[in-house]
Amino acid sequence: MDLDQLAALRTAEGSAALAAAARVAGGDALAAAAALRSAGVLAGLAAAALTQAELRRRAVGKFGPAAAGMFFTRAGLEQATRRVVADRRAARLRAAGVRTLADLGCGLGADGLAAARAGIRVYGVEADPVTAAMAAANAEAAGLAEEFTVECGDATAFDVRRVDAVFCDPARRRAGTGRRIFDPNAYSPPWDFVTGLAERVPRTVVKVAPGLDHALIPAGAEAEWVSVDGDLVEAALWCGPLAEVPRRATVLRGDVPHVLTGSGDAEAPVGPTRRFLYDPDPAVVRAHLVAELAGELDATLADPSIAYLYADTATATPYARCLAVTDVLPFSLKRLRALLRDRRVGRVEILKRGSALEPERLRRDLRLSGDAAASLVLTRVAGAPTVLIGQPA
Ligand SMILES: C[S@@+](CC[C@H](N)C(=O)[O-])C[C@H]1O[C@@H](n2cnc3c(N)ncnc32)[C@H](O)[C@@H]1O
Repeated sequence: MDLDQLAALRTAEGSAALAAAARVAGGDALAAAAALRSAGVLAGLAAAALTQAELRRRAVGKFGPAAAGMFFTRAGLEQATRRVVADRRAARLRAAGVRTLADLGCGLGADGLAAARAGIRVYGVEADPVTAAMAAANAEAAGLAEEFTVECGDATAFDVRRVDAVFCDPARRRAGTGRRIFDPNAYSPPWDFVTGLAERVPRTVVKVAPGLDHALIPAGAEAEWVSVDGDLVEAALWCGPLAEVPRRATVLRGDVPHVLTGSGDAEAPVGPTRRFLYDPDPAVVRAHLVAELAGELDATLADPSIAYLYADTATATPYARCLAVTDVLPFSLKRLRALLRDRRVGRVEILKRGSALEPERLRRDLRLSGDAAASLVLTRVAGAPTVLIGQPA
């Protein structure tokens, strides 16, 4: 997609092509292209419209029905913040009194749009011309063109004195190849620029990869990990006066938020395995808040380095899945196979932490048959390879 193709899609003829593409997208690609051409759409416009229609379909999971009126690049959609997460962040910024915000490296504008919806005046800066034009088009489609403006340029040159807060979500994929970047020093804008922002604008928020090394969290910043329906989606650093606690896990189930906070360096007590096993949400684990969760559940670890918790009672919690444990065995394929055969277990879900076993290979090796189902947990207990058998509590 280039700027001319985007401009063509934004004409009346382009809108008609997009509407026709939306009707045929998702099925056979050749048939869809033929349908558009037979409706009189020129080949170049048809191809651009079909690509957009396909990306819009994929974007529904992140943006809901609004995706139908938005413009996307493949890389931009992959990196875009999902709406439920962006809206929460924007609401927190607004509640902290933020009125003007720079979105440095705004991409397709998911975060900028959310902040503008929350009543914040947003100045977006985006280096890639097509992405910048799409972000502006997305603001217009949302009726927020005045609240969220986008300039194409280098975020490092933006005069941050113009705003009272800064948000930066640096690119963590290589332009062109789309390959993931794991070294923060290779992010764009670069990590030293990103972390230096907080010295210039105290109210700075940085979105980072959820795999962020805790050693990189700037002193005094709050680090938040966010999961949506059990999937870890991102982490964010809240700097200066925006930092409320050292560590936070935000667990979104549907649209309902659950927030666990703590120091991030507390240690959970260790004991034997018990009747119920809790598998903490990945946001809780990554935020190093397993000890805080253990406190809520009156639970203990069975191995100091493995984040499964054990308790005598089943407590409903949004922060973990709970299994009722029926058996605890030292790991032995032969013994496990015999036990599952006796119980006529034909279906298993396999969870693992601290085990090198490959779940799919184990599933094959177990040669299961029967009508019953069970959960298998491959782990270590006091250092020893162990399998627990259980049922969802
Ligand atoms: C991770 S994406 C932002 C996604 C955005 N927060 C969203 O949710 O839609 C990062 C963006 O920063 C842009 N970028 C990278 N380096 C930049 C720079 N120095 N100046 C401006 N934009 C930059 C990239 O082109 C990319 O679109």
